[in-house]
Amino acid sequence: MKKVYFDNAATTPVRKEVIDVMIPYFNDFFGNPSSIHSFGRECRYALDRARFSIATFIGAKDKEIIFTSGGTEGDNLAVKGIARANKDKGKHIITTGIEHNGVLNSVKTLEKEGFEATYLKVDETGRISLDELKNSLREDTILVSIMYGNNEVGTVQPIKDIGELLKDHQAFFHTDAVQAFGVEKIDVNELMVDALTVASHKINGPKAVGFVYIKDGLKFDPILDGGHQEKGHRAGTENVPGILGFAKAVEVVVEERNKNRELYKTLRRRFISLLNENGIEFKINENVEYCLPHILNISFPGTKVDTMLTNLDLEGVAVSGGSACSAGSITPSHVLVEMFGDNDPRLHNSIRFSFGHYNTEAEVDYVVNQIVKIIKRDK
Ligand SMILES: Cc1ncc(COP(=O)(O)O)c(C=O)c1O
Repeated sequence: MKKVYFDNAATTPVRKEVIDVMIPYFNDFFGNPSSIHSFGRECRYALDRARFSIATFIGAKDKEIIFTSGGTEGDNLAVKGIARANKDKGKHIITTGIEHNGVLNSVKTLEKEGFEATYLKVDETGRISLDELKNSLREDTILVSIMYGNNEVGTVQPIKDIGELLKDHQAFFHTDAVQAFGVEKIDVNELMVDALTVASHKINGPKAVGFVYIKDGLKFDPILDGGHQEKGHRAGTENVPGILGFAKAVEVVVEERNKNRELYKTLRRRFISLLNENGIEFKINENVEYCLPHILNISFPGTKVDTMLTNLDLEGVAVSGGSACSAGSITPSHVLVEMFGDNDPRLHNSIRFSFGHYNTEAEVDYVVNQIVKIIKRDK
């Protein structure tokens, strides 16, 4: 059976050149980077190089990069770490209702600790309003955490404008760039962010590795108790092979970003025009002007997401009905609820197609054919 993977927002296959970089660090160079003997030192050296390389690609200093176990941990570290360490300046946090749970649940934990949170609304396309943000800012706002691009619908937020707005305010600005990193140019100085989260497995790197950028001088508390790794910011022996693979994945994705963007735009254009040619009724759930090109979230009126997902899976097509992290459950996505309210049929008939480096136009043809077949058969 033909198999097509259109779920790259959930995770991506690891590229060969990334695996090649990792292999020696399982076999030959297996030392603990905290050990002072030669086995440890060669790993420490490799780790330092990886940190420097990643930092350079995002316009940061190497000491501003903290390696983590992925996006969820990076979000936790940035949000809880910054809020807790700076609570003497204020206990108000602003975020949005469409964040990944790594941010949302971190903010909820902080609320239980006595912080106050404002959750910005989004419009039907998933964009926040800068005016609402402006009006929500208070003297005691200490942290604003707003994602760069949404993982379910792909809508991109006005990150630079937010950075500009917060320039003269005490609040620190964190953005979750986990989905955006592979397709948007990320320079922490241009974006004027104080903290930023990235995960390796969304950019053809290994799973369970990521980094959080935290601006030099910004105080933050670690969330793990343990040793003094990562300059005391993140306890636990570093995942050396994973980090080296991640650094390679970053290098490759930065080099190929524009090419990949063009590929994803071509794939989505073809997808949409084929649906139109076949007379399929659909709506696109995103902000057409401001969106990550690899994510295409479409609602098909009259269909049911679970039936559609099962039928597509039977035809070898991997897609998602909600965020990967809540996959398996068919409770409506909190992102779509924020965009459309509690009672909109789009909560139950929307599918996320997400493209990756290895996808082709022929695969789009195959997937659209299957969709047409399923919808016409079920009518
Ligand atoms: C926007 C966003 N943030 C955070 C995460 C969590 O990343 P990880 O799976 O590496 O924990 C994801 C994963 O889907 C994501 O899409």
